[in-house]
Amino acid sequence: MPYQNITVSTEDGIAVVTLNRPDVLNALNQATMDELVSALEEFEREGSVRCIVLTGAGRAFAAGADIKEMAGASAPEMLAGYRFQQWERIRKVTTPLIAAVNGFALGGGCELAMLCDMIVAAETAQFGQPEINLGIMPGAGGTQRLTRAIGKSRAMEMVLTGRPISARQAEACGLVSRVVPAETVLDEAKRLAKEIAAKGAVAVRLAKEAVLKAFDTHLEGGLDYERKCFYLLFATEDRSEGIAAFLEKRRPAFKGR
Ligand code: CAA
Repeated sequence: MPYQNITVSTEDGIAVVTLNRPDVLNALNQATMDELVSALEEFEREGSVRCIVLTGAGRAFAAGADIKEMAGASAPEMLAGYRFQQWERIRKVTTPLIAAVNGFALGGGCELAMLCDMIVAAETAQFGQPEINLGIMPGAGGTQRLTRAIGKSRAMEMVLTGRPISARQAEACGLVSRVVPAETVLDEAKRLAKEIAAKGAVAVRLAKEAVLKAFDTHLEGGLDYERKCFYLLFATEDRSEGIAAFLEKRRPAFKGR
């Protein structure tokens, strides 16, 4: 499908989706979000992509919602718009999403990175929720996901001052899983994606669901959920193959069923 605001490529069971409006630091206008949702859902439907890397062209991952597009919007228009339904659709994507954050991840850009399942950051990346400087506040999950990721005090400081943090600070507080030299960030994310893509797809899907469950349930509910997923995997061919391969001292050949 031809896209105007993103580029998409696939290789070895993984996809790379690149936000491609570098002149405006990949500001997330509606058209970009539409294309992003459409590309992710198409991968889900098609079924051969096992892990997706999301990155940005140029100096930014994304510098937030498109401020020019938001400038004239009224509260009722924001409420009636489908803006946040798109974020919910991304949240429902079952394929693992890795954000390869190459530069600025600010406002909606930081929120989009946090909506992904893992973040690999370039040493030069910056993460922030600067909405307060515009007289507004995060609206796409920033107050919730950032707080869960880095704790109340640090999240409060970022959200109330709008000051960004560096990739190293983000690593120290657990927002990102690793920091790598800027020129290798996409390759590192792709390597990670290929490692995940080679695992049993049903196990990966249920494991992702179970980890995400930790965000919205209490411990007992989460443990129950985990156990149900665990039992279910004993009905898969991949479980028989994985255990047989271990016992036979060979690499497993998973089939995703
Ligand atoms: N929306 C629209 N355009 C943006 C943008 C955004 N979020 N961020 C940057 N741009 C545009 C700039 O207007 C500029 O365009 P022009 O050349 O046409 O003037 C171009 O991108 C390059 O930006 P700068 O010249 O500002 O680059 P810089 O290196 O001097 O500064 C920056 C970089 C610090 C990231 C700065 O661009 C900036 O502060 N951007 C805004 C960040 C922000 O406030 N994001 C939050 C948006 S609100 C939001 O996201 C709400 C939500 O939760 C959903």
